[in-house]
Amino acid sequence: MTDKQTEQPKIAPPTGKLGVLIPGLGAVATTFVAGVEAVRRGLAQPIGSLTQMATIRLGKRTEARTPLIKDFVPLASPADLEFGAWDPIPDDGLRSAQVAGVLGDRHLREVGDFLAGIKPMPAVFSQDYVKKLKGDNVKQGKNKRELAEALRADIRRFREERGCDRLVMVWCASTEVFLSPGPVHQSIEAFEEGLEKDDPGISPSMIYAYASIQERVPFANGAPNLTVDTPALRELAIERRVPVAGKDFKTGQTLMKTILAPGLKARMLGLQGWFSTNILGNRDGEVLDDPESFKTKEESKLGVLHHILQPDLYPVLYDNFYHKVRINYYPPRGDNKEGWDNIDIVGWLGYPMQIKIDFLCRDSILAAPIVLDLALFLDLAQRANMSGIQEWLSFYFKSPMTAPELYPEHDLFIQLTKLKNTLRWLMGEVPITHLGVEYYDEYLREA
Ligand SMILES: NC(=O)c1ccc[n+]([C@@H]2O[C@H](COP(=O)([O-])OP(=O)(O)OC[C@H]3O[C@@H](n4cnc5c(N)ncnc54)[C@H](O)[C@@H]3O)[C@@H](O)[C@H]2O)c1
Repeated sequence: MTDKQTEQPKIAPPTGKLGVLIPGLGAVATTFVAGVEAVRRGLAQPIGSLTQMATIRLGKRTEARTPLIKDFVPLASPADLEFGAWDPIPDDGLRSAQVAGVLGDRHLREVGDFLAGIKPMPAVFSQDYVKKLKGDNVKQGKNKRELAEALRADIRRFREERGCDRLVMVWCASTEVFLSPGPVHQSIEAFEEGLEKDDPGISPSMIYAYASIQERVPFANGAPNLTVDTPALRELAIERRVPVAGKDFKTGQTLMKTILAPGLKARMLGLQGWFSTNILGNRDGEVLDDPESFKTKEESKLGVLHHILQPDLYPVLYDNFYHKVRINYYPPRGDNKEGWDNIDIVGWLGYPMQIKIDFLCRDSILAAPIVLDLALFLDLAQRANMSGIQEWLSFYFKSPMTAPELYPEHDLFIQLTKLKNTLRWLMGEVPITHLGVEYYDEYLREA
């Protein structure tokens, strides 16, 4: 018999439709929606999605219980998803997917009709926060509070018109200029006063997050922007009992870093330097060509190695390693990014070695299944009455949100263990520690 946890949360069933609201109908969003529709039409497999493809081991290794995650936890089905979006550029989903250039002709033909049906609602947008973009599908309001109210009205209308039981919001819009937390972010009262007074510390993404939380819609932040990662909005999320997660989808080069760096540390190999450079030519690359947006991205990418390698605990191996990240906008490549890494490592007796990576990746192809998993897991979290930061979803982010007193966990394998143990805990199964002494009882007794 399996040991059951005593404090098993009650989880409401995923009945009815789940609306996925997306600020930013660009490359990631259209690739996500097209993929879900292709899966629903039986034209594709949901490759890259844990909620759809991964299994989870339960109990002892001898029990042979390894269901699919989607058969183990009560998740909404892709068949039940409805999509809505906002974008300052008025292109419908099909036109936007054509511009993004991620999907080939075959997929555009197969699900183009569905994409064409998604027309972006007018956005809360200001060029002060994304310098390289222009668009006129934009909301007008007396101040930021009115803009927040307009978004809340959109959310309610969408829920009503589409007959959705529940909603989630996943930010797939551009990276905003770098903002540090200031007084306006310290409490809900200061934030609401800032909305009224048009405080420049409140960016559009914060207005979406605020509207989402006020409407009790779980919110995930796929960009490195500060957005929901402030005391004010974290507090509001707990007060309104809404789960939130972020920041910055973990794809491409950072995904590789969080796979490799834990391996180097596990073997106590030293690091002298890690130089990463990319070329990409999509709209995201163009936005990141602006130094202020790049700074937001750079901060998100740089933290990873430091947190994994812990130079304070391992000064001999990791003190002062050199870490550089470059993103170069290079239009001919479109969304098909190429990322190079040169890693200078150190082994026994201090002998140097090198690792080279040349990753010809497709950013939005890596990001799309993350959007699906986040939508389904955040909906699960809300039905399980979990609120505030969902650290168990760190697996999906470059710069995971944590409680203020904690350092973020970047190691992909620890993140995966945390995610699966959270699912086990939610369903009253024992967490798996991989200790394994119980298989060797005889031996232990004799010793
Ligand atoms: N592609 C990836 O693998 C990946 C990985 C990690 C993070 N991200 C982040 O995800 C976001 C989307 O990436 P993408 O490649 O789809 O970019 P994209 O430029 O193709 O799409 C972003 C869209 O957001 C819209 N937008 C900008 N500001 C907006 C606002 N205030 N409200 C509504 N819409 C707004 C833009 O008009 C654009 O259509 C970016 O912030 C990017 O940094 C992407």
